[in-house]
Amino acid sequence: MKNFVIAIDGFSSCGKSTVAKALAKELNFVFIDSGAMYRAVTLYIQQNKVNIENEQGVLDALDNIHIDFVPNPEKVQILLNGEDVSDAIRTMEVSEYVSEVSALKPVRKAMVHQQQNLGKKRNIVMDGRDIGTTVFPNADLKIFMTASPQVRAERRFAELGAKGEVLTMEEVKENLSHRDHIDSTREESPLRQAEDAIVLDNSELNQEEQLQFVINLVKEKI
Ligand code: C5P
Repeated sequence: MKNFVIAIDGFSSCGKSTVAKALAKELNFVFIDSGAMYRAVTLYIQQNKVNIENEQGVLDALDNIHIDFVPNPEKVQILLNGEDVSDAIRTMEVSEYVSEVSALKPVRKAMVHQQQNLGKKRNIVMDGRDIGTTVFPNADLKIFMTASPQVRAERRFAELGAKGEVLTMEEVKENLSHRDHIDSTREESPLRQAEDAIVLDNSELNQEEQLQFVINLVKEKI
């Protein structure tokens, strides 16, 4: 039987990963957070002071980057060259630069290729910005998640606060709109809703309701 692929796309901090993770757990699918991969590349570029204007430098960096996911039902762990960077990739420093790095052609090419390989022969839920449009244009189910800017900023603010990052709500809002702008206007696979994606606006829904919404859609397809 062919593997089942669920693509979840949307703007920053719409709660994509939360739904994707819960869905993967419920269905016993593999969850892949594609944003974590772009964040890991960004961390490497920052740590190694790679000049992103220099294409050869970026290509060399990509040759030296190896990303792995550790299957762990409680927490998704991501390894960058063997080191657990699950927390390090979530800092504001990385968030502030990740969209610039993600807009680079060689970075997208390398990540899309890896993501397509990860989705071969396995049932997966992958969340990101271009999963339904570029990575898996033939995904079995495509969801496009949205939430009001206020709800998104509040969620992100709470998430960062829980990790001890001291930021104002304004700074959080600015980062979200900065990333959304670059992500949706870049030349290479910009964030947009796939024609056959189903919209899930979760501004007013709790996690259980969101999960149920998607599970019902999966049941129609299986
Ligand atoms: O999902 P998350 O917010 O962690 O993603 C971080 C950044 O990675 C996004 O703002 C975007 O610039 C980039 N990204 C991307 N394509 C994806 C997933 C994430 O360009 N499929």
